[in-house]
Amino acid sequence: MKHYEVEILDAKTREKLCFLDKVEPHATIAEIKNLFTKTHPQWYPAHQSLCLDPKGKSLKDEDVLQKLPVGTTATLYFRDLGAQISWVTVFLTEYAGPLFIYLLFYFRVPFIYSHKYDFTSSRHTVVHLACICHSFHYIKRLLETLFVHRFSHGTMPLRNIFKNCTYYWGFAAWMAYYINHPLYTPPTYGAQQVKLALAIFVICQLGNFSIHMALRDLRPAGSKTRKIPYPSKNPFTWLFLLVSCPNYTYEVGSWIGFAIMTQCLPVALFSLVGFTQVTIWAKGKHRSYLKEFQDYPPLRMPIIPFLL
Ligand SMILES: NC(=O)c1ccc[n+]([C@@H]2O[C@H](COP(=O)([O-])OP(=O)(O)OC[C@H]3O[C@@H](n4cnc5c(N)ncnc54)[C@H](OP(=O)(O)O)[C@@H]3O)[C@@H](O)[C@H]2O)c1
Repeated sequence: MKHYEVEILDAKTREKLCFLDKVEPHATIAEIKNLFTKTHPQWYPAHQSLCLDPKGKSLKDEDVLQKLPVGTTATLYFRDLGAQISWVTVFLTEYAGPLFIYLLFYFRVPFIYSHKYDFTSSRHTVVHLACICHSFHYIKRLLETLFVHRFSHGTMPLRNIFKNCTYYWGFAAWMAYYINHPLYTPPTYGAQQVKLALAIFVICQLGNFSIHMALRDLRPAGSKTRKIPYPSKNPFTWLFLLVSCPNYTYEVGSWIGFAIMTQCLPVALFSLVGFTQVTIWAKGKHRSYLKEFQDYPPLRMPIIPFLL
Protein backbone atom coordinates (compact mmCIF):
# COMPACT_ATOMS: atom_id res chain seq x y z
CA MET A 1 0.00 0.00 0.00
CA LYS A 2 1.39 3.39 -1.07
CA HIS A 3 1.52 5.87 1.81
CA TYR A 4 1.09 9.62 1.54
CA GLU A 5 3.11 12.49 2.87
CA VAL A 6 1.06 15.41 4.10
CA GLU A 7 2.45 18.86 4.68
CA ILE A 8 0.34 21.45 6.44
CA LEU A 9 1.03 25.11 5.71
CA ASP A 10 -0.41 28.22 7.32
CA ALA A 11 -2.99 29.57 4.83
CA LYS A 12 -1.96 33.18 5.52
CA THR A 13 1.84 33.09 5.83
CA ARG A 14 2.50 29.79 3.94
CA GLU A 15 4.79 28.85 6.83
CA LYS A 16 5.23 25.08 7.14
CA LEU A 17 3.50 24.01 10.35
CA CYS A 18 3.72 20.26 10.18
CA PHE A 19 4.93 17.37 8.07
CA LEU A 20 3.21 14.01 8.40
CA ASP A 21 5.04 10.99 7.07
CA LYS A 22 3.48 7.65 6.07
CA VAL A 23 -0.16 8.68 6.22
CA GLU A 24 -2.49 5.88 5.13
CA PRO A 25 -4.32 6.53 1.83
CA HIS A 26 -7.74 5.99 3.41
CA ALA A 27 -7.03 8.42 6.27
CA THR A 28 -9.83 10.96 6.68
CA ILE A 29 -9.42 14.70 7.22
CA ALA A 30 -10.64 14.15 10.81
CA GLU A 31 -7.75 11.72 11.35
CA ILE A 32 -5.26 14.16 9.82
CA LYS A 33 -6.58 16.88 12.15
CA ASN A 34 -5.95 14.56 15.10
CA LEU A 35 -2.37 13.96 13.94
CA PHE A 36 -1.87 17.71 13.52
CA THR A 37 -3.16 18.33 17.07
CA LYS A 38 -0.44 16.03 18.41
CA THR A 39 2.25 18.45 17.21
CA HIS A 40 0.18 21.60 17.89
CA PRO A 41 -1.95 20.92 20.98
CA GLN A 42 -3.21 24.53 21.06
CA TRP A 43 -5.28 23.78 17.92
CA TYR A 44 -7.64 20.96 18.82
CA PRO A 45 -9.57 19.57 15.81
CA ALA A 46 -12.60 21.85 16.16
CA HIS A 47 -10.21 24.84 15.79
CA GLN A 48 -8.89 23.62 12.46
CA SER A 49 -9.99 24.26 8.95
CA LEU A 50 -7.96 22.38 6.33
CA CYS A 51 -8.24 23.27 2.63
CA LEU A 52 -6.58 22.36 -0.63
CA ASP A 53 -6.26 25.99 -1.57
CA PRO A 54 -5.24 28.83 0.82
CA LYS A 55 -8.50 30.66 0.07
CA GLY A 56 -10.60 27.60 -0.70
CA LYS A 57 -13.48 25.84 1.02
CA SER A 58 -12.79 23.79 4.15
CA LEU A 59 -12.51 20.06 3.57
CA LYS A 60 -15.08 17.92 5.35
CA ASP A 61 -14.01 15.75 8.27
CA GLU A 62 -15.17 12.66 6.40
CA ASP A 63 -13.21 13.43 3.19
CA VAL A 64 -10.70 10.66 2.44
CA LEU A 65 -7.13 11.54 1.47
CA GLN A 66 -6.82 9.23 -1.55
CA LYS A 67 -10.05 10.62 -3.04
CA LEU A 68 -8.78 14.20 -2.97
CA PRO A 69 -7.10 15.71 -6.04
CA VAL A 70 -3.62 15.53 -4.50
CA GLY A 71 -0.40 13.69 -5.31
CA THR A 72 1.34 11.35 -2.88
CA THR A 73 2.74 14.48 -1.26
CA ALA A 74 -0.35 16.42 -0.31
CA THR A 75 -0.26 20.07 0.69
CA LEU A 76 -3.05 21.23 2.95
CA TYR A 77 -3.61 24.78 4.15
CA PHE A 78 -4.56 25.45 7.73
CA ARG A 79 -6.81 28.20 9.08
CA ASP A 80 -7.50 28.73 12.76
CA LEU A 81 -11.26 28.94 13.30
CA GLY A 82 -10.80 30.41 16.76
CA ALA A 83 -12.45 29.31 19.99
CA GLN A 84 -15.40 27.04 19.38
CA ILE A 85 -18.59 26.43 21.25
CA SER A 86 -21.08 23.59 20.78
CA TRP A 87 -24.27 24.23 18.81
CA VAL A 88 -26.35 22.99 21.68
CA THR A 89 -24.77 25.57 24.03
CA VAL A 90 -25.28 28.23 21.37
CA PHE A 91 -28.94 27.47 20.94
CA LEU A 92 -29.59 27.16 24.65
CA THR A 93 -27.98 30.56 25.31
CA GLU A 94 -29.72 32.22 22.38
CA TYR A 95 -33.17 30.91 23.30
CA ALA A 96 -33.09 30.95 27.11
CA GLY A 97 -32.22 34.68 26.95
CA PRO A 98 -35.42 35.88 25.20
CA LEU A 99 -37.56 33.63 27.39
CA PHE A 100 -36.15 35.11 30.58
CA ILE A 101 -35.92 38.71 29.34
CA TYR A 102 -39.54 38.76 28.15
CA LEU A 103 -40.73 37.58 31.57
CA LEU A 104 -38.87 40.43 33.32
CA PHE A 105 -41.02 42.88 31.35
CA TYR A 106 -44.17 40.82 31.77
CA PHE A 107 -43.81 40.83 35.58
CA ARG A 108 -42.79 44.51 35.40
CA VAL A 109 -39.78 44.13 37.64
CA PRO A 110 -38.53 47.46 39.09
CA PHE A 111 -36.49 49.96 37.00
CA ILE A 112 -38.25 49.17 33.70
CA TYR A 113 -41.46 51.20 33.90
CA SER A 114 -42.42 53.90 36.40
CA HIS A 115 -42.03 52.81 40.03
CA LYS A 116 -45.79 52.71 40.67
CA TYR A 117 -46.17 49.84 38.16
CA ASP A 118 -43.62 47.52 39.84
CA PHE A 119 -44.96 43.94 39.83
CA THR A 120 -48.38 45.03 38.57
CA SER A 121 -50.24 43.09 35.92
CA SER A 122 -51.82 44.25 32.66
CA ARG A 123 -55.63 44.42 32.46
CA HIS A 124 -55.62 43.29 28.81
CA THR A 125 -56.11 39.56 28.10
CA VAL A 126 -54.03 39.82 24.94
CA VAL A 127 -50.95 40.77 27.00
CA HIS A 128 -51.21 37.53 28.99
CA LEU A 129 -51.88 35.51 25.87
CA ALA A 130 -48.86 37.07 24.16
CA CYS A 131 -46.67 36.10 27.12
CA ILE A 132 -47.92 32.50 26.91
CA CYS A 133 -47.25 32.36 23.15
CA HIS A 134 -43.80 33.94 23.42
CA SER A 135 -42.75 31.65 26.30
CA PHE A 136 -44.21 28.61 24.56
CA HIS A 137 -42.25 29.41 21.39
CA TYR A 138 -38.89 29.58 23.14
CA ILE A 139 -39.55 26.62 25.48
CA LYS A 140 -40.42 24.60 22.36
CA ARG A 141 -37.18 25.69 20.70
CA LEU A 142 -35.13 24.80 23.78
CA LEU A 143 -36.72 21.35 24.03
CA GLU A 144 -36.28 20.76 20.30
CA THR A 145 -32.61 21.71 20.55
CA LEU A 146 -32.15 19.18 23.35
CA PHE A 147 -34.36 16.35 22.16
CA VAL A 148 -35.28 16.68 18.47
CA HIS A 149 -32.56 18.17 16.24
CA ARG A 150 -29.71 15.97 15.09
CA PHE A 151 -27.09 18.52 14.11
CA SER A 152 -24.32 17.52 11.73
CA HIS A 153 -21.76 20.13 12.78
CA GLY A 154 -20.73 20.02 16.40
CA THR A 155 -19.44 23.52 16.92
CA MET A 156 -19.45 27.11 15.68
CA PRO A 157 -17.06 30.01 16.31
CA LEU A 158 -17.52 31.57 19.75
CA ARG A 159 -17.70 35.10 18.30
CA ASN A 160 -20.99 34.26 16.51
CA ILE A 161 -22.74 33.82 19.82
CA PHE A 162 -22.28 37.51 20.71
CA LYS A 163 -23.84 38.59 17.42
CA ASN A 164 -26.74 36.13 17.69
CA CYS A 165 -27.47 36.91 21.33
CA THR A 166 -27.50 40.66 20.65
CA TYR A 167 -30.10 39.99 17.95
CA TYR A 168 -32.37 37.63 19.92
CA TRP A 169 -32.04 39.24 23.34
CA GLY A 170 -32.22 42.78 21.98
CA PHE A 171 -35.37 42.18 19.96
CA ALA A 172 -37.00 40.25 22.84
CA ALA A 173 -36.43 43.21 25.18
CA TRP A 174 -37.67 45.73 22.64
CA MET A 175 -40.86 43.77 21.87
CA ALA A 176 -41.53 42.96 25.52
CA TYR A 177 -41.07 46.58 26.57
CA TYR A 178 -43.92 47.76 24.33
CA ILE A 179 -46.29 44.80 24.72
CA ASN A 180 -46.12 44.86 28.53
CA HIS A 181 -46.08 48.65 28.81
CA PRO A 182 -48.78 50.01 31.16
CA LEU A 183 -49.96 52.27 28.31
CA TYR A 184 -50.15 49.44 25.73
CA THR A 185 -53.30 49.58 23.59
CA PRO A 186 -54.85 46.27 22.49
CA PRO A 187 -55.33 45.51 18.76
CA THR A 188 -57.82 47.57 16.72
CA TYR A 189 -60.23 44.72 15.95
CA GLY A 190 -60.26 43.33 19.49
CA ALA A 191 -61.03 39.69 20.24
CA GLN A 192 -61.62 38.78 16.58
CA GLN A 193 -58.13 39.92 15.59
CA VAL A 194 -56.58 38.14 18.57
CA LYS A 195 -58.41 34.87 17.81
CA LEU A 196 -57.37 34.91 14.16
CA ALA A 197 -53.76 35.66 15.15
CA LEU A 198 -53.77 32.89 17.75
CA ALA A 199 -55.02 30.40 15.15
CA ILE A 200 -52.19 31.42 12.76
CA PHE A 201 -49.67 31.15 15.58
CA VAL A 202 -50.82 27.71 16.77
CA ILE A 203 -51.03 26.25 13.24
CA CYS A 204 -47.54 27.50 12.42
CA GLN A 205 -46.08 26.17 15.67
CA LEU A 206 -47.56 22.74 14.96
CA GLY A 207 -46.27 22.95 11.39
CA ASN A 208 -42.78 23.97 12.51
CA PHE A 209 -42.66 21.10 15.01
CA SER A 210 -43.91 18.58 12.44
CA ILE A 211 -41.16 19.61 10.00
CA HIS A 212 -38.50 19.33 12.69
CA MET A 213 -39.71 15.80 13.46
CA ALA A 214 -39.69 14.94 9.75
CA LEU A 215 -36.09 16.23 9.39
CA ARG A 216 -35.05 14.25 12.45
CA ASP A 217 -36.48 11.06 10.95
CA LEU A 218 -34.30 11.52 7.86
CA ARG A 219 -31.14 11.10 9.90
CA PRO A 220 -30.36 8.01 12.01
CA ALA A 221 -28.98 8.95 15.45
CA GLY A 222 -25.23 9.65 15.41
CA SER A 223 -25.03 9.98 11.61
CA LYS A 224 -24.64 12.99 9.32
CA THR A 225 -26.82 11.58 6.53
CA ARG A 226 -28.72 14.07 4.39
CA LYS A 227 -31.76 13.02 2.39
CA ILE A 228 -34.51 14.69 0.41
CA PRO A 229 -37.45 15.31 2.76
CA TYR A 230 -40.88 14.29 1.45
CA PRO A 231 -44.43 14.87 2.73
CA SER A 232 -45.74 12.19 5.09
CA LYS A 233 -49.24 11.37 6.39
CA ASN A 234 -49.03 14.42 8.63
CA PRO A 235 -50.75 17.25 6.64
CA PHE A 236 -48.34 19.85 8.07
CA THR A 237 -45.53 18.18 6.13
CA TRP A 238 -47.38 18.54 2.81
CA LEU A 239 -45.71 21.91 2.42
CA PHE A 240 -42.64 19.89 1.40
CA LEU A 241 -44.42 19.49 -1.96
CA LEU A 242 -43.87 23.18 -2.63
CA VAL A 243 -40.92 24.41 -0.58
CA SER A 244 -37.50 23.15 0.53
CA CYS A 245 -37.55 24.68 4.03
CA PRO A 246 -41.14 24.63 5.33
CA ASN A 247 -39.84 24.92 8.92
CA TYR A 248 -38.72 28.45 8.04
CA THR A 249 -42.07 29.19 6.32
CA TYR A 250 -43.90 28.14 9.50
CA GLU A 251 -41.41 30.04 11.67
CA VAL A 252 -42.11 33.28 9.80
CA GLY A 253 -45.86 32.49 9.93
CA SER A 254 -45.70 32.20 13.73
CA TRP A 255 -44.13 35.64 14.02
CA ILE A 256 -46.67 37.15 11.64
CA GLY A 257 -49.38 35.66 13.88
CA PHE A 258 -47.68 37.17 16.92
CA ALA A 259 -47.43 40.56 15.18
CA ILE A 260 -51.15 40.53 14.31
CA MET A 261 -52.03 39.49 17.87
CA THR A 262 -50.02 42.24 19.57
CA GLN A 263 -50.26 44.86 16.80
CA CYS A 264 -46.85 46.03 17.87
CA LEU A 265 -44.29 47.60 15.51
CA PRO A 266 -41.13 46.00 16.98
CA VAL A 267 -42.76 42.56 16.50
CA ALA A 268 -43.48 43.38 12.85
CA LEU A 269 -39.85 44.49 12.42
CA PHE A 270 -38.56 41.32 14.11
CA SER A 271 -40.71 39.26 11.74
CA LEU A 272 -39.33 41.15 8.76
CA VAL A 273 -35.67 40.81 9.81
CA GLY A 274 -36.24 37.11 10.66
CA PHE A 275 -37.92 36.57 7.29
CA THR A 276 -34.97 38.17 5.46
CA GLN A 277 -32.48 36.02 7.35
CA VAL A 278 -34.27 32.68 6.93
CA THR A 279 -34.89 33.44 3.24
CA ILE A 280 -31.14 33.79 2.71
CA TRP A 281 -30.61 30.45 4.49
CA ALA A 282 -33.49 28.77 2.65
CA LYS A 283 -32.03 29.84 -0.71
CA GLY A 284 -28.65 28.38 0.28
CA LYS A 285 -30.23 25.11 1.42
CA HIS A 286 -32.35 24.93 -1.74
CA ARG A 287 -29.22 25.38 -3.90
CA SER A 288 -27.43 22.63 -1.94
CA TYR A 289 -30.37 20.23 -2.46
CA LEU A 290 -30.33 20.91 -6.22
CA LYS A 291 -26.56 20.34 -6.35
CA GLU A 292 -26.63 17.24 -4.17
CA PHE A 293 -29.66 15.40 -5.57
CA GLN A 294 -30.25 15.06 -9.31
CA ASP A 295 -33.82 13.84 -8.74
CA TYR A 296 -34.75 16.83 -6.54
CA PRO A 297 -38.47 17.72 -7.00
CA PRO A 298 -38.55 20.59 -9.53
CA LEU A 299 -41.70 22.26 -8.19
CA ARG A 300 -40.12 23.31 -4.91
CA MET A 301 -39.12 26.88 -4.13
CA PRO A 302 -36.84 27.77 -1.16
CA ILE A 303 -39.41 29.22 1.29
CA ILE A 304 -42.61 30.66 -0.30
CA PRO A 305 -44.57 28.39 -2.68
CA PHE A 306 -44.31 29.52 -6.36
CA LEU A 307 -42.68 32.82 -5.38
CA LEU A 308 -39.41 32.79 -3.48
N1 LIG B 1 -36.52 33.34 13.39
C1 LIG B 1 -35.34 33.06 13.40
O1 LIG B 1 -34.69 34.00 13.44
C2 LIG B 1 -34.76 31.68 13.35
C3 LIG B 1 -33.48 31.55 12.89
C4 LIG B 1 -32.91 30.28 12.87
C5 LIG B 1 -33.62 29.19 13.31
N2 LIG B 1 -34.86 29.32 13.78
C6 LIG B 1 -35.64 28.14 14.25
O2 LIG B 1 -34.79 27.10 14.61
C7 LIG B 1 -35.08 25.95 13.78
C8 LIG B 1 -33.81 25.18 13.45
O3 LIG B 1 -32.99 26.01 12.65
P1 LIG B 1 -31.94 25.46 11.63
O4 LIG B 1 -31.45 26.63 10.84
O5 LIG B 1 -30.95 24.60 12.35
O6 LIG B 1 -32.90 24.51 10.72
P2 LIG B 1 -32.52 23.46 9.61
O7 LIG B 1 -31.23 23.80 8.98
O8 LIG B 1 -33.69 23.25 8.72
O9 LIG B 1 -32.23 22.12 10.42
C9 LIG B 1 -33.00 21.53 11.41
C10 LIG B 1 -32.38 20.19 11.73
O10 LIG B 1 -32.64 19.26 10.67
C11 LIG B 1 -31.42 18.78 10.10
N3 LIG B 1 -31.61 18.69 8.64
C12 LIG B 1 -31.96 19.71 7.80
N4 LIG B 1 -32.08 19.24 6.53
C13 LIG B 1 -31.81 17.92 6.57
C14 LIG B 1 -31.77 16.88 5.57
N5 LIG B 1 -32.03 17.13 4.28
N6 LIG B 1 -31.45 15.62 5.96
C15 LIG B 1 -31.18 15.36 7.25
N7 LIG B 1 -31.20 16.28 8.25
C16 LIG B 1 -31.51 17.56 7.92
C17 LIG B 1 -30.38 19.81 10.48
O11 LIG B 1 -29.09 19.23 10.52
P3 LIG B 1 -27.74 20.04 10.10
O12 LIG B 1 -27.03 20.23 11.39
O13 LIG B 1 -27.04 19.09 9.18
O14 LIG B 1 -28.11 21.32 9.42
C18 LIG B 1 -30.85 20.24 11.85
O15 LIG B 1 -30.45 19.31 12.84
C19 LIG B 1 -35.79 26.52 12.55
O16 LIG B 1 -36.61 25.61 11.91
C20 LIG B 1 -36.57 27.63 13.17
O17 LIG B 1 -37.74 27.14 13.77
C21 LIG B 1 -35.43 30.57 13.78
